[in-house]
Amino acid sequence: MQTFYDKNSFSKYIAELKEKKKKIGFAPTMGALHAGHISLYQEAQKHNDIVISSIFVNPTQFNNPEDLEKYPRTIEEDVKKLGDSKLVDAVYIPRVEDIYPNGMERKHYDFGGIENEMEGAARPGHFDGVGTVVEELFRQVQPDNAYFGEKDFQQLKIIEKLVEVLDLKIKIHGVKIHREESGLAMSSRNMRLSNEEKKTSSIIYKTLKQVNEKSKTTSIPTIKERVSQIFDKEDDMELEYFMIADEETLKEADFISENKNYRAFIVVNVGNVRLIDNLHLD
Ligand code: PAF
Repeated sequence: MQTFYDKNSFSKYIAELKEKKKKIGFAPTMGALHAGHISLYQEAQKHNDIVISSIFVNPTQFNNPEDLEKYPRTIEEDVKKLGDSKLVDAVYIPRVEDIYPNGMERKHYDFGGIENEMEGAARPGHFDGVGTVVEELFRQVQPDNAYFGEKDFQQLKIIEKLVEVLDLKIKIHGVKIHREESGLAMSSRNMRLSNEEKKTSSIIYKTLKQVNEKSKTTSIPTIKERVSQIFDKEDDMELEYFMIADEETLKEADFISENKNYRAFIVVNVGNVRLIDNLHLD
């Protein structure tokens, strides 16, 4: 596996791949890699000649400075994990000036409204920050395919819109959520949970599964009330939001219509760790 720490050497590598007409699969990350990331590379390896990953903790997508500061940074272990996985041909670890040569500004995007729902409402500017970094990485990596986890389902939808708005010829692939045995969705943030907190956090996925069952017979307001009650009983967990939304518009639904797809979305704060999860309702 090759490791690139600056834009110049990385651009030369990409130019060579393009010259050889190699099909590139790309999975951008912010590091602190776990089995969920590995599943992105596994998927990428199936459909591409070359798999590239990037590691860059992107400051413009954090609206909370404390969250940015506390974000786990484990570059050496990450590079080792990537090498050991034998799934990745190259990792790009750009410097801030490689991504933001003109200062750390977010671009502003119109994603048709989905950017204002859920995480967009809870974290103002977040999706402009994600769009800015992913656009720049896409321009530098020039992938044919790009892979994103469904854990950040809204982000996946935003990236699909990004390539549409910018008319980039990149196919976006969503990869299923990878879960711990307890059901807890894998996330780099889980590293900040104690073992006890990890155990109690398994209630998040249990609740989502109950919601899936209940949604067949019970009204959405009643389900929401039940979810609030579950988390009211948990001293160390605070439910930030729970909603059932249309998978296309990401708008909260008040009732289920036959011909649409819905997903339950949840954000829970465990101490000062913000955990996010979702489940498609069948
Ligand atoms: O999902 C992430 O890790 C980040 O939001 C991404 C897509 C790498 C952009 O910084």
